Amino acid sequence: MKPVKIAPSIVSADLGHLADQVKQCEDAGAEYIHIDIMDGRFVPAITIGWPIVEAVRRATGLVLDIHLMVVEPEKQIGRFMDVGGDIINVHWEAATHPHRIVQEVHARDRRAGICLNPGTPPDVLNAILPDLDQVMVMGVNPGASGQSFIESALPKIEALRQTIDANGYRAEIEIDGGVTTATGPRCAAAGADVMVAASAIFNAKASIAQNIKSLRDSVAALKA
Ligand code: DX5
Ligand code: ZN
Repeated sequence: MKPVKIAPSIVSADLGHLADQVKQCEDAGAEYIHIDIMDGRFVPAITIGWPIVEAVRRATGLVLDIHLMVVEPEKQIGRFMDVGGDIINVHWEAATHPHRIVQEVHARDRRAGICLNPGTPPDVLNAILPDLDQVMVMGVNPGASGQSFIESALPKIEALRQTIDANGYRAEIEIDGGVTTATGPRCAAAGADVMVAASAIFNAKASIAQNIKSLRDSVAALKA
C-alpha cells in the first residue's frame, strides 16, 4: 500500500503540555498537525482559536492543517492564515461561496481544502475539484473525537479517488473521524492519502509515538 500521511488532531492532546505533545508527534514522523476549530454554532462544541494555533506554529515546523467547523468561514480564513495555517479547510455545508474562499487561500500561497459531512455526497465538488488541494471526507459527524466510523465514508473516498485520478487533479483525500488501526487501512485501500486521528493517537493506552507507528504499520501491512 502506498504510504499515507498522518495528521494527529490536537483536540484530544493534553493541552496543558501542548508544545511537548506536538513535538512528540513531530519526532514520531507525523506529517501534519490537524487543528479542529469549532465555533459552538456549526457544531455545538467550542474548541480552539487563533492564540492556540499561533502557539502550535511556534512549536513546530510541520504543516498545520486547519479544520474550520465554523459558520461563515469566509470571515475566519484570513486570521487563521495570519497565525500560521498552511492548509485551510472549510465545510461545504457552511460555505456560501466556496470558490471565492479557495481563491483567497491561493492568493496567499496556502493550500485549500473542502470538507464533506457524512450526509453530503462527493459529487457536489465536481465543479471545484480541479482547484482544490485537499478534500476532507468526514468519517463521523463533526463535533467530537472518539466517535465510531461511519461506513458510507468509504464509497465516498473511492468515488473521489476515481474522479481525481481519471482527471489528473492534484487534490489529496483526507479522512477525518473514526480513524483507527482497523478503519485506517480500509480508508487507505479506498484511496485516502491523509489520515487524521485524535483519540487513536492521544490516549492512555500507549505513547503518541507508539500510536502513530501502529497506525502507519496497520496501513503498511495492507497488500498493494
Ligand atoms: C471531528 C474532528 C476530528 C476528530 C477526530 O469533529 O474534526 O478531527 O476530533 O477524532 P477521532 O480521531 O477521535 O475520531
Ligand atoms: Zn478535524
